[in-house]
Amino acid sequence: LTGAITLDPGYKNSGSCKSDITFLDGEEGILRYRGYAIEDLAEKANFLEVSYLVIFGELPTKNQLEKFENDIRKYTLVNEEMKNIIDGFPKTAHPMGVLSSLTSALTAFNPKVVNVENEKEMYEAVCKTMAKFLVIATWTYRKMMGYPLNYYDNTKGYVENFMHLMFGLPTGPYTQNKVVIDALDKLFILHADHEQNCSTSTVRIVGSSHAGLFASISAGVSALWGPLHGGANQAVLEMLEAIQKDGGDADKYLAKAKDKDDPFRLMGFGHRVYKNFDPRAKIIKKAADEVLSTLGVDDPILQIAKKLEEAALVDDYFVSRKLYPNVDFYSGIIYRALGIPTDMFTVLFAIGRLPGWIAQWKEMRVNKEPIGRPRQVYTGYPLRDFVPMDKR
Ligand code: SDX
Repeated sequence: LTGAITLDPGYKNSGSCKSDITFLDGEEGILRYRGYAIEDLAEKANFLEVSYLVIFGELPTKNQLEKFENDIRKYTLVNEEMKNIIDGFPKTAHPMGVLSSLTSALTAFNPKVVNVENEKEMYEAVCKTMAKFLVIATWTYRKMMGYPLNYYDNTKGYVENFMHLMFGLPTGPYTQNKVVIDALDKLFILHADHEQNCSTSTVRIVGSSHAGLFASISAGVSALWGPLHGGANQAVLEMLEAIQKDGGDADKYLAKAKDKDDPFRLMGFGHRVYKNFDPRAKIIKKAADEVLSTLGVDDPILQIAKKLEEAALVDDYFVSRKLYPNVDFYSGIIYRALGIPTDMFTVLFAIGRLPGWIAQWKEMRVNKEPIGRPRQVYTGYPLRDFVPMDKR
């Protein structure tokens, strides 16, 4: 099992785990889903195909893929009462906070606990989650914009529905642009899974207590929200916009990132595992050039990003710490070109990561892993006598 990590003999499920899903080599910058290279999957497969691979372990046949897409369509209607929940949020609420709440609320309308031993029930739970999560994720945008909430259109494809759900208005049909759909499909593939990252580990550990699938994914959404993790794609754009506003002086911001006394970090750079180029960043950088030129978008932000990257890659501070661009450095530039607002960038990360969260939760439960219980190195006081109040 090239992707297996030896279990810590000391404690079961003490934080490290075995998995057959994704293999990373941080030194070589390698990423594979179920043994297939990310470069091949991004180029030759579509997001639902990769979702099936990540979740069920094999690339689907044509019939299996068609059945998967049609079975997802069975669950694309979200209970109308869920609208009362989203109505309770202010328009200013961050979409990730709304998404985490709505995902947890799905449990109220789908109370049946997933019996992972029953393959049929597990498959239905997968299709239900893929269907409903996409709809409620786009509702967070509609809420923010004050638009009416859209319904999934079962005559359209999965990624096509994302754009329809996001931008379709009752005032007229939303015309789909194939370049946009293909770019989004590729971006979702690149985010589909990434071994034991912060949010996936969260999904696994919450699920290890036998909490339900929706509750576990809701916790994953919250973990992903952080600017050190999935929230970095939004933070990158905010950083690039600040540099642009400040005259585009990349060197000034590199200096800030290197300054120990300055909390500023170069967002979109560095990684817990990759100490080489994040292979996803390379693919996304190429896609950014293609999408912006095809759409005729000349975004100065892209040039600032490239200037920043070029400068950092020859700067000893970054080189010595093996800090390279990660998946978040360029993705936001494409989302911005597609008209996605910055606050929604991490929601798109969550949509892409959903199959990975489902797959890892399923693997952990099917393998009957024990409840997660990481231990600690105690660094507090040794035993000491109690001090009565009048002696304190
Ligand atoms: C994702 O785990 C995954 O797989 C995550 C992810 C996925 O697909 O799920 O790949 C998605 O989360 C990508 C990462 C997105 N986050 C960012 O882009 C935020 C900016 N990056 C950093 O905050 C940081 O690089 C982390 C959090 C990503 C990784 O942190 P590490 O590996 O714990 O690095 P560290 O904090 O130990 O830093 C090591 C050194 C320190 O300097 P010294 O103390 O040695 O002097 O590198 C410096 C850090 O100060 N450093 C940075 C930096 N990242 C690390 N300095 C400036 N800018 C940065 N971005």
